[in-house]
Amino acid sequence: MAQRKVGVLVGSIRKGSYSRMLANAMCGLHSDLQCRVIEIRQLQLYDQDLDENPPQEWKAFRDAIRACDAILFVTPEYNRSVPGVLKNAIDVGSRPYGKSAWAGKPAAVVSTSMGALAGFGANHHLRQSLVFLDMPAMQQPEAYCGNTPQLFDAQGKLTADDTRKFLQTFMDAFATWIEKTAAR
Ligand code: FNR
Repeated sequence: MAQRKVGVLVGSIRKGSYSRMLANAMCGLHSDLQCRVIEIRQLQLYDQDLDENPPQEWKAFRDAIRACDAILFVTPEYNRSVPGVLKNAIDVGSRPYGKSAWAGKPAAVVSTSMGALAGFGANHHLRQSLVFLDMPAMQQPEAYCGNTPQLFDAQGKLTADDTRKFLQTFMDAFATWIEKTAAR
């Protein structure tokens, strides 16, 4: 299996984000996947008027996405959908029209929640965007991580063994998915 660069997009920008902890825990799980979090907090709100002379942050973000072989989304759910900060990053990466940085990149989605429903709504709203962005999204295994405060210690280290095992299975499947779909 070839080494693949995976950009990791985290849908929460707060300090102490459980989604970020989960993303960090996932990053080291597969030796063929070089995972790197691509930051989104610095991105100005998408404004089509700026497309002719885009902010430097947008350009750097789009280049960072283009340099990836695949994208892993790890996101909480806000009001049964995707947090605005992540949707903004998706919109920024998708423009200018016809030059989307996302097109064709294999993707995987992990939703998180402090609660038991585990971000099902965010997971599936995000998948709706991925269809339009032409990003082949891994179907199985699905990943809904609920009750997140119980999964980590005070230093943000994943302590739940069953979750780690599941995430290992997930990343193994994602590596296979990338090989299947990356060179379409
Ligand atoms: C939430 N939260 C939440 N949880 C959920 O399961 N479904 C939801 O629809 C929402 N909606 C929501 C809206 C807003 C504005 C906030 C701030 C929070 C709770 C959410 O799961 C919790 O804050 C997570 O811990 C957020 O993820 P991070 O920041 O820990 O990664």
